[in-house]
Amino acid sequence: MSHLTELQHRAASHVMHTYPLAPAAFVRGQGTVLFDGEGASWLDFLSGLAVTSLGHAHPAVTAAVADQASKLVHTSNLFLTEPAVELAERLGRIVGWDDATVFFAQCGATANEAAIKLARKHGKRQHDDKVRVVALEGSFHGRTLATLEATGQPSKHAPFAPLAGFVDHVAHDDPDALRAAVGDDTCAVLLEVVQGEGGVRPIAAEVLRAARDACDRAGALLIVDEVQTGMGRTGPWFAFQDTDVVPDVITVAKALANGLPIGACIARGEAAKVFEPGDHATTFGGNPVVCAAANAVIETIESDGVLATARARGSRLREGLEALVRGAPHAAGTRGAGLLLGLTLDAPVAADVVAACRDRHLLVNAVAPDVVRLAPPLTVTRQEVDQALATLRDALSEVSASSDPEVTP
Ligand SMILES: Cc1ncc(COP(=O)(O)O)c(C=O)c1O
Repeated sequence: MSHLTELQHRAASHVMHTYPLAPAAFVRGQGTVLFDGEGASWLDFLSGLAVTSLGHAHPAVTAAVADQASKLVHTSNLFLTEPAVELAERLGRIVGWDDATVFFAQCGATANEAAIKLARKHGKRQHDDKVRVVALEGSFHGRTLATLEATGQPSKHAPFAPLAGFVDHVAHDDPDALRAAVGDDTCAVLLEVVQGEGGVRPIAAEVLRAARDACDRAGALLIVDEVQTGMGRTGPWFAFQDTDVVPDVITVAKALANGLPIGACIARGEAAKVFEPGDHATTFGGNPVVCAAANAVIETIESDGVLATARARGSRLREGLEALVRGAPHAAGTRGAGLLLGLTLDAPVAADVVAACRDRHLLVNAVAPDVVRLAPPLTVTRQEVDQALATLRDALSEVSASSDPEVTP
């Protein structure tokens, strides 16, 4: 029995089936490459859902984790620890806000929960009903009850409805609708600069500006969810830094500790001073081992010039995808930024393309029936980019040939 088959067998009895599982299981990784239980290598252009941005087993992260784990693993937030305070300082610096304060959570959803609670408290200081949130259709903000409600994907709400009913959704591309939806009872607008799970869909500059203006008029907070876009994924440290809009709050998670579970809610100005003792808390937030990993991530990105390299690799990958659009079957367009790119298809065959890539040991995933997402580590090499593009071309040809057997790839 293979390692994969054995794991599948055991999981079937004892692990809740919440994910559509891919037929692969890995035992170790190195850079952009994963190795399965049989020793075969796979090219990882998924990065564990945009998480392992420095690649697998990055030595600086491994050393930071080992060092901190050998000294102190946990004390709770009743006590300060050096790694957490240092990380809060570093985050304030890279976000570019002198007055930034940080709340540490465990993941993207819990970072967004913190941001939503912060905005509701900020709103209630103005009047008691100022607790509503405006979010965009197609967005993804997490799976806890509040973040699920903020997520603009009704199919994900359905099994759990009714929800609390405090979020109003507007089209992702309609600045007027957004302005109209923000009223006196709105405490926040919550949005992504590039909708990741919603299909690698960049949000137009006019929509971002409308959100900022509407928040200013209504005394609401603009929260930008940088859970997927942050830490250099789209080019700058944070995607909003490539726009002319400055939010009041951002949330970060995924790549922040290169795979260890962490989330952060970062606020500036008035928003930075909203939470007081007793308002919000979590046992594991700011855990010293996880914060040490995140400090190593930021230090490495800075010392190794990772943002510049990632921009260059992003351009190469995008150019390669555009060449596929010109010459490969089904490839219809590209969208996204930096190394968060989507290949749009002319038919709902993304799952087939992903499967054909997987057969060739390239990991990518489908974020819509007609969109394949590519999110390799920011440290991906030129050769790996070219290899992935060649594999993708083969996969598109195979899918085209199997959907129309008369056509030779
Ligand atoms: C933009 C965005 N926000 C929030 C989340 C939720 O993060 P997590 O799965 O860590 O709770 C995700 C996850 O994909 C995301 O892409």
